[in-house]
Amino acid sequence: MDPEVRKRTLRLITYGLYVLTAADGEEIAAGTINWLSQASFQPPLVMVGIKKDSHLHALIERTGKFAVNILGAGQKEIASAFFRPTQVAEGKLNGYPFEWGPRTGAPLLVDLPAWFEAQVTDAVRRGDHTVFVAEVIEAGLRDPEARPLVMWDTGWFYGG
Ligand SMILES: Cc1cc2nc3c(=O)[nH]c(=O)nc-3n(C[C@H](O)[C@H](O)[C@H](O)COP(=O)(O)O)c2cc1C
Repeated sequence: MDPEVRKRTLRLITYGLYVLTAADGEEIAAGTINWLSQASFQPPLVMVGIKKDSHLHALIERTGKFAVNILGAGQKEIASAFFRPTQVAEGKLNGYPFEWGPRTGAPLLVDLPAWFEAQVTDAVRRGDHTVFVAEVIEAGLRDPEARPLVMWDTGWFYGG
């Protein structure tokens, strides 16, 4: 296999962008991710690929829960804020207001158009990321008119 062709081919997979959060009490992890897809209708399952050495990974392993905040089309700047280390100050997460998820206790960013909470059912631990399969247990739509932020439109890549 030609590694350059592999990289360019895998980078043609289409993605959205999401701020994933997890919490164990006051301890919070948050990060912008793109490796996420729905994986079943009944039960409603999603799958996410999470970097093994991240704080997010540690908290998802520990609590078995996470929340997904779906970024809107104009929210590239918010996405960038969650590539940086997670900080809570003055009731804000990396500078953005949040509330606690009703089912998971994970932060929900109130400026983002939609969110869901999920409970981990399975984990595939292979390579440098773990694939968590999780059941969607709660969801909220703050802005029904919003369109999602699409990875291709940002010029960023995470894949290859
Ligand atoms: C464009 C882009 C996409 C990313 N997608 C993922 C992803 O799908 N999964 C993941 O675990 N990390 C992804 N990351 C890295 C996370 O944003 C980063 O690990 C996260 O901020 C968590 O860091 P921490 O928990 O160690 O503080 C991506 C980074 C960039 C720049």
